[in-house]
Amino acid sequence: MSSFKDLRIVDNFYQTSSYYPMPTVMISTLAEDGSTSVGSYSLCFPYYIAGKGYYAMLLEARNSSNTAQHLLAGRKTIAINFMPEGPGYHKKIVAQGWPGDTPAEKMKNFGFHLEDGLCIAEDPATPRPKVVSEAYQVMECTWMSDLENAYEDIGRKLEDGCYPPPYRSFNGITTQYGAHFILRIDKVLMKPKFYDNIINGVKGRLWPNVLVCHGYRDSKNFWFARTPRLVPELLPIRNATLSSVRYAADRTDPNVHFTDDALEKLLNVPRIFLPTVLKGCVAWAKENGVTEITAREMDIINDKRAKEKGKTK
Ligand SMILES: Cc1cc2nc3c(=O)[nH]c(=O)nc-3n(C[C@H](O)[C@H](O)[C@H](O)COP(=O)(O)O)c2cc1C
Repeated sequence: MSSFKDLRIVDNFYQTSSYYPMPTVMISTLAEDGSTSVGSYSLCFPYYIAGKGYYAMLLEARNSSNTAQHLLAGRKTIAINFMPEGPGYHKKIVAQGWPGDTPAEKMKNFGFHLEDGLCIAEDPATPRPKVVSEAYQVMECTWMSDLENAYEDIGRKLEDGCYPPPYRSFNGITTQYGAHFILRIDKVLMKPKFYDNIINGVKGRLWPNVLVCHGYRDSKNFWFARTPRLVPELLPIRNATLSSVRYAADRTDPNVHFTDDALEKLLNVPRIFLPTVLKGCVAWAKENGVTEITAREMDIINDKRAKEKGKTK
């Protein structure tokens, strides 16, 4: 007999049929008059995380919301403001979650501060919504309306508060009530203390007080979690044998040879990533006219990778 009960799956299952921790973000978009409008959201997650040429987030929003309407009007720049715990923040965030208020009504009593993001200085010709000063990090983004031809949804009009078909699968208006937006990340803005905690070594006590939301439940309350204390858990390294790494290395490119001392530096790379790492080394060798990779070349490659990582931050 199972130790579980079978729970019915209903609409909004993430908050009605499960316990599902989510970020608490305030989304800034551009209202019709060019002012910044801010709404509260939680269904906002990483979407493209590697290998796509750009990085993207996914936002799930009621398609009649101000946020969706601003994007669907063609004002495609948006900022995702990640909120920490703070005095009175729960109340102020929930106040931005009331459906149906116009941006002007909403922003009249906005409980946080707004400032320019970092994109606008680099590209003043592209209007951008302001960002929330109290956020611990902000992602300034652009809606990728080309994906799934979602640009065809720009300018569609709501009928009695809903959109009639057609609906898209994953970008644009996806149901009568909902929309999905794939948002290219143009910049990640980070408060200095937390920037240092990423760049100069991670310490649990220097983490932002991430405000975790468990959604709207009991038809009454939004439920927030207190920030948990962070504890690291070491991923046990499973070292491969030199001969197994040699097997993969010898099959990567016939014109680039790896010495044993070079391959020793790859013994703790998980097997599943080994072909990608080896291909990266071969690409570097070809670019630099190298036919044998020794431990010295491996150090150069690792150093280059570390520098590139630093540059993107
Ligand atoms: C903490 C919190 C999280 C929310 N998450 C979402 C969400 O992920 N998607 C959504 O459509 N509405 C969500 N809502 C409801 C929206 O805030 C509400 O629809 C609001 O009207 C949106 O603001 P806007 O119309 O200015 O875009 C959330 C509300 C709160 C308070």
